[in-house]
Amino acid sequence: MSARDVGILGGTGPAGRGLALRLAASGMKVTIGSRDPARAADVAEGLRSRWPDHELHLAGAGNLEAAACQTVVVATPWDAAAATAGALREGLAGKVVVSMANALTRSGDELIALIPPRGSIAEAVQAATPGARVAGAFHHLPAAALADLGKELDADVLVCSDNAEATGETVALVESIAGLRAYDAGSLSSCGAVEAFTAVLVGLNIRYRARASLRLTGVRKPS
Ligand SMILES: NC(=O)c1ccc[n+]([C@@H]2O[C@H](COP(=O)([O-])OP(=O)(O)OC[C@H]3O[C@@H](n4cnc5c(N)ncnc54)[C@H](OP(=O)(O)O)[C@@H]3O)[C@@H](O)[C@H]2O)c1
Repeated sequence: MSARDVGILGGTGPAGRGLALRLAASGMKVTIGSRDPARAADVAEGLRSRWPDHELHLAGAGNLEAAACQTVVVATPWDAAAATAGALREGLAGKVVVSMANALTRSGDELIALIPPRGSIAEAVQAATPGARVAGAFHHLPAAALADLGKELDADVLVCSDNAEATGETVALVESIAGLRAYDAGSLSSCGAVEAFTAVLVGLNIRYRARASLRLTGVRKPS
């Protein structure tokens, strides 16, 4: 994929920050978005100083500026994703918007999946941004694994969208990150199952003190 600029809404959290780091390390120009631009600037500075040997094009800004990037990732908590993207829908029109949010809630000592009214958070983001082309991706990558540039990733990423171009662009975005393979997992209607499966992976990570992610067998992408 050619160098693009990517904005991450809610990019100051562990997931958005880790993804920003990996995308910047792959040569993308990344804007970490926040409700508080100063917090985003601190996070970007923290990442640059943590990894001085990498040339990271990472900046922090408000979510509005992040939404002005060519490709936009939504990395807020699940219950804020549609409202955050919806408030920026004019700027997001025509763009590929990638939702990585999983609707999970704590029950005792485990996380369980919630079924959002539209079936998935990605579908709720699409409904809130009718002019955008929404894809779901990155749901199963643990933030701790994303955050450690010293360890190469080794995972498969499922990409769902109702728009073929959005699927293609998102697959390319995923595969710009070393160690990740992306698969077209179908329309946004598949995203509910993809998001919900994260609860299973988080449970495994807690039980086995691991950073489990997804790895498919028996499927090979045409070269
Ligand atoms: N953590 C993981 O390992 C992981 C892995 C894959 C996917 N995910 C998904 O990625 C998303 C982000 O995960 P996270 O752990 O990074 O979440 P988080 O730390 O709880 O939230 C991320 C950022 O969202 C912003 N935010 C919080 N509440 C908000 C609200 N009400 N409205 C708008 N913005 C709000 C905050 O940024 P500002 O205060 O700076 O605006 C916060 O730093 C979640 O939906 C999660 O399901 C997480």
